[in-house]
Amino acid sequence: MAVTTAQSTFREDLLNGKTAIVTGASRGIGAAIAHRLCETGANVVICSRSADTITQVANTLQDSGHTVQAIVADISQKADVETLIKKTIAQFAQIDILVNNAGITRDMLLMRLKDEDWDAVLQTNLTGTMYCTRAVLRPMIRQRSGRIINISSVIGLMGNAGQANYAAAKAGILGLTKATAKEVGARGITVNAIAPGFITTDMTAQIPEQSQEQILEMIPLRGFGDPEDVADAVCFLASDAARYITGQTLQVDGGMVM
Ligand SMILES: NC(=O)c1ccc[n+]([C@@H]2O[C@H](COP(=O)([O-])OP(=O)(O)OC[C@H]3O[C@@H](n4cnc5c(N)ncnc54)[C@H](OP(=O)(O)O)[C@@H]3O)[C@@H](O)[C@H]2O)c1
Repeated sequence: MAVTTAQSTFREDLLNGKTAIVTGASRGIGAAIAHRLCETGANVVICSRSADTITQVANTLQDSGHTVQAIVADISQKADVETLIKKTIAQFAQIDILVNNAGITRDMLLMRLKDEDWDAVLQTNLTGTMYCTRAVLRPMIRQRSGRIINISSVIGLMGNAGQANYAAAKAGILGLTKATAKEVGARGITVNAIAPGFITTDMTAQIPEQSQEQILEMIPLRGFGDPEDVADAVCFLASDAARYITGQTLQVDGGMVM
């Protein structure tokens, strides 16, 4: 489990009284986002597929005095997403911020890619993001406000050999972000994406050392990102400081893609 304790530079009351949902928050970037949203005053609902790890993250945050609810939900399943949203409304009466973070990889060169690995990545990363987004629109439209933040990837911008499924899903998220931003802007809802570069988590730990060295050469800021770098960008987009920003993709990649 990787719950960060790195200090936030945001005001403690930045998101006071807001309710946020973070998908895929049992480790890595999602856990860091949940931590930052808590530190800045939000009530946070976190989900993942594994009960043990999501409960552990919630317990750690609750022990620090934060208001957090853990819900076991597989975002690739529409019924799970509906339950996630219903439980959040039942507990907090509103949803101000949705962070679509949950994602998986099933890497293989396209020639050898199995249908089930294409389907799994598209179903979780793209369709799951759509399910969660669609489900929060009604409550957000009723409130006439909301922030939806989709975690895409630089791979969705530039492609990557061996990741056709992941690149397609992450590029799809960018299209989904822009279309939704246009549909709901007049209702006071912003929809933005973040495209992280190489962030040190369990997901990137699988990349062989030699490939990691090659990636490092492509990064002008000469280092990999931490989950907190993405979490800080989420806090900014969720805050009033970003009220006039919608349909955009914020790259958190050390300058890797420009
Ligand atoms: N790390 C990077 O360098 C990087 C770069 C660009 C983009 N990203 C994106 O950032 C996001 C987080 O990445 P990460 O590196 O933190 O990954 P990670 O360490 O593998 O964590 C993924 C999280 O998503 C959850 N998850 C996976 N499938 C799920 C599902 N169907 N329903 C609900 N939760 C699910 C996992 O928990 P369970 O397994 O318990 O469900 C876990 O909490 C992903 O969307 C990833 O594509 C990461």
